[in-house]
Amino acid sequence: APAVLRTVAEVKDWTAGLRREGHRLALVPTMGFLHEGHLSLIREGRRRADVVAVSIFVNPTQFGPKEDLSRYPRDFEGDVARCTGAGAQAIFAPAGPEVMYPRGYQTYVDVTDVSQGLCGARRPGHFRGVATVVTKLLALFRPEVALFGEKDYQQLQVIRALNQDLHLDVDIVGMPTVREADGLAMSSRNAYLSPEERQRALALSRGLKAAQALLREGTRESGPLVGAVRRELEAAGLREDYVELVDADRLTPLASVAPGQPARLLVAAFSGTTRLIDNMPLGGE
Ligand code: PAJ
Repeated sequence: APAVLRTVAEVKDWTAGLRREGHRLALVPTMGFLHEGHLSLIREGRRRADVVAVSIFVNPTQFGPKEDLSRYPRDFEGDVARCTGAGAQAIFAPAGPEVMYPRGYQTYVDVTDVSQGLCGARRPGHFRGVATVVTKLLALFRPEVALFGEKDYQQLQVIRALNQDLHLDVDIVGMPTVREADGLAMSSRNAYLSPEERQRALALSRGLKAAQALLREGTRESGPLVGAVRRELEAAGLREDYVELVDADRLTPLASVAPGQPARLLVAAFSGTTRLIDNMPLGGE
């Protein structure tokens, strides 16, 4: 069974031992309630390193005052079993938020450009919290590799930027979105959906697939590509938060997809009160 580390001192002892023995470490940061998307990161970590650590920490600094911090789903026993099955050697589960943010804590990481639009514009402070906790985890573990999902595409770009800008030299690996059989992107927050809301939520992936089909048929302008997603959201009665076509690296808005240019279509929408996100590549990747 994996070692369960509860404090910063325990992590430092454990990683010091690894280094003495010359191991290569992969880190998979999570907020728990693990599903196949998380497990795909752990399994890829095992391919790229000989030891994998998973962090499970519902990071308070990335939640807004009206968001779901207090009711975020948790299942620690189940998560330990899933980490064991996927081949993780250690789980860092801070005993409480004060392990990461003790009294007097005062340092935050702000990735300016790529945090701006999309989810950054709708969730003020969210990416500052994400960038801060991920920087702390990379500084604490100093892994060779860290794995993240494309499901949270803007988050992945924020993490690539802080890794480069702060000279952390971690190999940041982005993994494709793992989906349910019907196309819904796996997410811990799917647990909030009623059966009816779960059915309506399919509009996100259906709309993105419709846009990919349009592009294959030669439609390159953002208007109709974004429109294909909006049509599905409307048909399902979902409230749009945003639908945007952006450059796949810089996340700046695009008026159209140029041939060979990596572009990405991103959507956020509410099914009932649950906010869902999804994205897909549109050409060039
Ligand atoms: P969490 O939502 O638990 O996700 C942990 C990691 O799993 C992230 O890299 C996320 O992109 C990835 N992931 C989630 N759903 C996925 C799916 N369906 N397919 C593939 N990968 C998926 O993202 C966070 O936690 C936090 O913001 C964190 C980075 C841990 C910082 O607190």
